[in-house]
Amino acid sequence: MNKKDFPIFNEKIYGNPLIFLDSAASAQKPETVLAAMEKMARTYYANVHRGAYYLSEMSTIAYEDARKTVARFIGAREKDVIFVRGATEGMNLVAQTYGRTLLPGDEILLSEAEHHSNLVPWQLLAAEKGVLLRFARVTDDGLLDMDDFKSKLSSKTKLVGMTHMSNVLGTLFPIKEVTRLAHESGALVLIDGCQGIVHEKVDMRDIGCDFYASSGHKLYGPTGIGFLYAKAELMNTLSPWQGGGDMVKTVTFEKSTFAETPARFEAGTPAIVEAVGLAAALRYLEGLTLNAIETHEETVMNALKDELWSVQGVKPLGNMALKKSLISFNIEGFHPQDIAMLLDKQGIAVRVGHHCAEPVTEKYGVSSSIRASIGLYNDLEDVAAFIKALEKAKAILA
Ligand code: ALA
Repeated sequence: MNKKDFPIFNEKIYGNPLIFLDSAASAQKPETVLAAMEKMARTYYANVHRGAYYLSEMSTIAYEDARKTVARFIGAREKDVIFVRGATEGMNLVAQTYGRTLLPGDEILLSEAEHHSNLVPWQLLAAEKGVLLRFARVTDDGLLDMDDFKSKLSSKTKLVGMTHMSNVLGTLFPIKEVTRLAHESGALVLIDGCQGIVHEKVDMRDIGCDFYASSGHKLYGPTGIGFLYAKAELMNTLSPWQGGGDMVKTVTFEKSTFAETPARFEAGTPAIVEAVGLAAALRYLEGLTLNAIETHEETVMNALKDELWSVQGVKPLGNMALKKSLISFNIEGFHPQDIAMLLDKQGIAVRVGHHCAEPVTEKYGVSSSIRASIGLYNDLEDVAAFIKALEKAKAILA
């Protein structure tokens, strides 16, 4: 689907066509994104919200239009969209704002499948504030154990933090149901949307969560930009986490008063060109339609699952059948790093390691795995080439 829209596929890797199976780490960018960023940098770039001149006004309009595009894409109001460097910064922002209102003994309930970016910020907060971290179990299949989740949710739980889709297991988590239960119990909900939003339509009004963090570079946009969905009514009651230009109302030598969100949480010059690139990426996805992307990806994933099962010794982490857009696996008798290196020599890019989610990787009894993740540009030919290259790597190492 639309591989031709992505210039990187014109490149050869060690003389081979590129088969890119690492979109879960960072997706490639279509020409339309590259062109939008270059056009801005070349023709109408200036700082935003500051200059009383044509270029700055043009930049400001484009930057705020990007916020509108994000808001439309996720079914939110513009004032609920805070631009951040990426999902990691978004989750740290929640920890350093809402998190700082928590008291010793308050609890934060996470799933066992969280990426380090939805775990380490809470560990740092726990060490400082004396809040307790609890973990809802993930089943052997890679799903959230709802009974365990419910048993750990209590009036002490002040925040539930959960991934939309595990970046190791590839399974979707029931974020709408989790949000409903958490709200009934009086807790706020933060969703790590990094992987989920790329592969299924999200609507904040439908999910109902309080926070949703995502990165531009996984959505076919640039690095250095992402967004945190956070309800304005709450955010305007919280203290800023970073001080600087653009986030203040008034400043004297003694004290400052602060702007309303989202400016309140966007101190300093933001990633202006990158915001425009992100908006171009979202418009590109809207143009293809998310339904069409989902249907195409399902076809590719089904082929990938079937073909991978045919490779002798393959051991997926979790249940292969439940995986949405990525598969982490090992091959009995082979080191994942060796396999990945030989795949690379054949032009095939996969991730290997614990995928920045060490606890859940260890839970499945391994310290490392190979991860193949798909994007909208992957096709059935990629699957065939991947499987052939995998068999060749095994043969070389045997
Ligand atoms: N979170 C990214 C991944 O899963 C980097 O690879």
